[in-house]
Amino acid sequence: MPALLSLHSEAAPTALLLAIASALLGAYSAYLVIDFRDASRHPRDSKKNSSSPSTHPIQLTDLTSSKLSTIPLAPLQPVRAGVEELIGNTPMVELRSLSAATGCRILAKLELANPGGSAKDRVALAIIEAAEAAGQISPNCGDAVFEGTSGSTGISLAMLASAKGYTAHIALPDDTSTEKVQLLETLGAVVYKVRPASIVDSDQYVNFARRKTNEINAAADAAAAANPEAPRLPRAVFADQFENEANWHTHFKHTGPEIFAQTDGGKLDAFITGAGTGGTIAGVARFLKSTIKRSPGSTPFRVILADPQGSGFYNRIKYGVMYAPTEQEGTRRRHQVDTIVEGIGLNRITVNFQAGEKYIDDAVCVSDKEALQMAKWLVSHDGIFIGSSSAINCVATYRTAKALGPGHTIVTILCDSGSRHLSKFWKEAQTVEPLESLDNL
Ligand SMILES: Cc1ncc(COP(=O)(O)O)c(C=O)c1O
Repeated sequence: MPALLSLHSEAAPTALLLAIASALLGAYSAYLVIDFRDASRHPRDSKKNSSSPSTHPIQLTDLTSSKLSTIPLAPLQPVRAGVEELIGNTPMVELRSLSAATGCRILAKLELANPGGSAKDRVALAIIEAAEAAGQISPNCGDAVFEGTSGSTGISLAMLASAKGYTAHIALPDDTSTEKVQLLETLGAVVYKVRPASIVDSDQYVNFARRKTNEINAAADAAAAANPEAPRLPRAVFADQFENEANWHTHFKHTGPEIFAQTDGGKLDAFITGAGTGGTIAGVARFLKSTIKRSPGSTPFRVILADPQGSGFYNRIKYGVMYAPTEQEGTRRRHQVDTIVEGIGLNRITVNFQAGEKYIDDAVCVSDKEALQMAKWLVSHDGIFIGSSSAINCVATYRTAKALGPGHTIVTILCDSGSRHLSKFWKEAQTVEPLESLDNL
């Protein structure tokens, strides 16, 4: 097109028409095969064409009615009223290479298919709706949602705040990658870069977000008390994903029932995932444990925690003690959970983890190297490109399948896409040798 625009002005309209015509023809040819075969191969036309080679007919084959595609056209979802209605009802896919290696049916729920790219869309929506129901915030009044997070929850809150008439305010450590800060700002969030500090410091980023929320609400309350007739001042809610029970409730109400329905009424033997806040495992485990009915004598349905190296959850489930080697005297680091993995692993018990702890039967600890190897395996064998926490889930799932033996169905979660982890996890993955067989894992 730029070449056409530089043509002499008289030629331009014709050239433009030609360009449009050729573009339309180009698009149409995606559906049609233009067959220039010699007419002699078409008995119906052979006579005519043998006498006049210059007028060979062009045979058009309509591919729209042929069976070239292997993708069945399922009933399509109705049009949604907004981005929030796209959250949940995520698809499930079989991880074929893991099924083949274990003799089990390994299924992955694609939480990465939520519009904000992770399961945190469900949590952000539940938290905003709970705050609205409690009268803490109202849309389009200048109200705000605060959170201290450098992870997926900030992205989901930023997306939903814009969609629902709020502003997201996200506090994070000032050494968070510029990539993440830019993403949040592009999504419309106000970002506060706070110096890294201990959780007991009032300026630690989570405490900072809580304090800012309280200041805004105190000002609004004071103004309303001084003059009840004065216009309402903006209010704020602190999302508090670790302690806010709207988090596990949404997984109990939605993610759990979806898994139940997608496995033909709960025909699964194990559910495996990691814990960051603990909301996913708590909500799903509570729902499935209370719903799945096993016939007497069959193996019980099990919930298994996948934990990265350096996290305390593994020891908590195995031995009842929240302890990680990084807690050892003299070895404490700035990042307590000493792993490349983001989003899961913790060294404290949260309200959301507590809500599901008694439903967790066992735990599997996975090293960074194993997670990197699994991520590389899945991208090259299944075409599935995942982030670090999902890779931990898949290693734990593979191990559990091997331990249970063939014939079992296991469901895990693919939390987010590898594209969120290019600069760290996937960069590191380039330094790891690919596995020749999963037996080496
Ligand atoms: C990428 C990713 N995976 C997994 C999780 C863990 O989910 P949950 O907080 O429900 O335990 C998180 C939590 O932030 C996450 O960001």
